[in-house]
Amino acid sequence: MAATAVKGTLTHEHIQAFKSILGDAFVFADEENLNHYGHDETEHLLYLPEVVVKPRTAEEISAILKICNKDLIPVTPRGAGTGLSGGALPHLGGVLLSTERMNSILTIDERNLQVITEPGVITEVLQNAVKEKGLFYPPDPSSRGSCFIGGNIAENSGGPKAVKYGVVKDYVLNLEVVLPNGEIIWTGANVLKNSTGYNLTQLVVGSEGTLGIVTKIVLKLIPFPKYDLLMLVPFASLEKASEAVSAIFRAGFVPSALELVEIDALKIVSKMVDSTAVPVDDSIAAHLIIEVDGNNMEVLMSQMESIAELLTQFDAGEVFFADDAQQKAELWKLRRRVAEAVKTSGYTIEEDTVVPRAELPVLIKGVKELGKQYGFHAVCYGHAGDGNLHIRINHPTIKNSHGNAEMTHALRALFELVKSLGGTISGEHGIGLIQKPYMATVFRDANLHIMREIKKAFDPNNILNAGKIFDLN
Ligand code: LAC
Ligand code: ZN
Repeated sequence: MAATAVKGTLTHEHIQAFKSILGDAFVFADEENLNHYGHDETEHLLYLPEVVVKPRTAEEISAILKICNKDLIPVTPRGAGTGLSGGALPHLGGVLLSTERMNSILTIDERNLQVITEPGVITEVLQNAVKEKGLFYPPDPSSRGSCFIGGNIAENSGGPKAVKYGVVKDYVLNLEVVLPNGEIIWTGANVLKNSTGYNLTQLVVGSEGTLGIVTKIVLKLIPFPKYDLLMLVPFASLEKASEAVSAIFRAGFVPSALELVEIDALKIVSKMVDSTAVPVDDSIAAHLIIEVDGNNMEVLMSQMESIAELLTQFDAGEVFFADDAQQKAELWKLRRRVAEAVKTSGYTIEEDTVVPRAELPVLIKGVKELGKQYGFHAVCYGHAGDGNLHIRINHPTIKNSHGNAEMTHALRALFELVKSLGGTISGEHGIGLIQKPYMATVFRDANLHIMREIKKAFDPNNILNAGKIFDLN
């Protein structure tokens, strides 16, 4: 493999210097901490950092980066460690920089419908804080109860609401970023329109901690919709369920969530959380979870009825309407915990494919065929309304795709299919460490060359999350 970084050696002196910047209490080199910060939610991968630092301010980060930049010490930024592509894995050792102490919501600007926050705030905490003011920050990854807003910026996360409201990038107005040389910049302005030069804000969103460390975030908010309705629709065939997805949009509806869950995934998660909320009999192959929201209840009821009527053309079974807040919460809990449940039961390899939504049925058929060919079992679920399909793979012997030749071969075939359908490798989980071998499936050399040059412009010494997204040389 190509070299990923010129690596200096982390010494006792460096650790002492970090302690003098942060205080002894926020620098860790004990086995337990190194192990804890050596993994995220990606497969079963573990890479030990040499030291863990927990700064509280941009100035502290700046001081640490200046030292690392001078001595070529690799630095891996980390939010809550809920990532699925290995973006926060310290695969080169060095310094693991956790943003967990930077956890204040700084300002909720009700006049301008904006919030300014630090990166270590849990996404759901931020959502609830703005909701108290009648405001809505829609992007809600399944891990919203534990992930950090900074990690969401790094990966350009999505979640179920993205289908109507867009993903993280659609809400980020401005970012304070510490560059690898220690300089602290703001990328833009706190405005809704901005055509002032290159869009550095959007470049940093989704850059997976390779260009700088985000220390303040300005997000756009919208008014919180008054009502939502939720229904669960069973289908006897996975293909029909996936065909129905694009028909809903073609008929003029814009649901606020349109999720698909294959029955095997639902069985596993129902068992894990000990729920009987959703019927899982053998005649059902998959469910669609459909939500609409807005300010006029009558309009929403009529939309739900029309969507249910439309779905009869796709052999939908009996529709279950979630009647109250508790039933809605139960359904969403099941959906949100699918990833964790299937991973625990052996589906350790996770893909985040995305195709134009009408191509979903072809993708799903292809996934099943690849499973037969390569000897794995796959369950599909995810944000069908966005054409964003999470594919969880259970292989009898291969538990990590990373570094495994056979699984790399299978995944390359999957991504070639995705590409042929007009799609791409990742919709919302990023490339990180483990999807890097497949970048060439969807990009030409010229694309990758530009990306590498951008990386060099920000980080000429390649100290910051080096070897993520692509190898530098
Ligand atoms: C989900 C996460 C894994 O949709 O993206 O459950
Ligand atoms: Zn998802």
